[in-house]
Amino acid sequence: MPHGVGAFFYEETESTNTLAKEMAASGSKGPVWLVAGTQSAGRGRQGRVWTSQPGNLYCSLLFVPALKLADVAPIPFITALAVRDTFLALGAEPSSTQCKWPNDVLLRNKKASGVLIESSASGGEALDYLVIGIGMNLVHCPDDAIFPATTLANVTGQVVDVRTAMTELAKNLKARLDAWQVGTFAPIREEWTRHAWGLGETRKIQTATESFLATIVGLDDQGAVNVILADGTKKTIYVADIFPSLAP
Ligand code: BTN
Repeated sequence: MPHGVGAFFYEETESTNTLAKEMAASGSKGPVWLVAGTQSAGRGRQGRVWTSQPGNLYCSLLFVPALKLADVAPIPFITALAVRDTFLALGAEPSSTQCKWPNDVLLRNKKASGVLIESSASGGEALDYLVIGIGMNLVHCPDDAIFPATTLANVTGQVVDVRTAMTELAKNLKARLDAWQVGTFAPIREEWTRHAWGLGETRKIQTATESFLATIVGLDDQGAVNVILADGTKKTIYVADIFPSLAP
């Protein structure tokens, strides 16, 4: 990532990802962080709503990396590791700060961060822009989320302000992106796997069309997740949610 990353703070916006995409559409190349105190239309993966009360971190990094679409597969995992680094720096315990496929970070088995990555490559292979949107639950979490949620404050007993969290996250993500050798995934996959939640365990997998129990084996070389069904069938999952529940 180039040096000199800018940052804008908005008391309220629709969604920092939406704003970043609008900026990209009007020619901005970044690199720039857009940070919001609250979002009126925060977006999660798979079209879900990301509830955005003041006190949590809502931010998006807009930039135009010299990457082809085929190279971006490690970015969600790099981002999740940077979010994990940030939670640790802010007081979370290493052993219970885990990465959940595809790019959530859990604190004590509950979701405390989500990542929404959006990009465009209208001309074919080269990226027009990349937006890495990150939500970190510092003090608030929904009590009706599809996956149980928690906050950093719940696990540390400390309230961290948005600016402190943002500064730490920006530093950690930059360091990880700078350290990444484009075209490689193995070292990222190895590190992510060391901190992964649910590996070797039976979990509920929910895709757009089906729900089933499977044992999670690990990541393939593109970041999809390999699982084994109860009858021994091996499957590779590209888009899904994974739940702790044992009920299919
Ligand atoms: C998920 O786990 O479903 C992803 C959640 C991503 C939320 C962040 S908050 C900042 C940025 N702006 C959005 O509208 N979404 C992302």
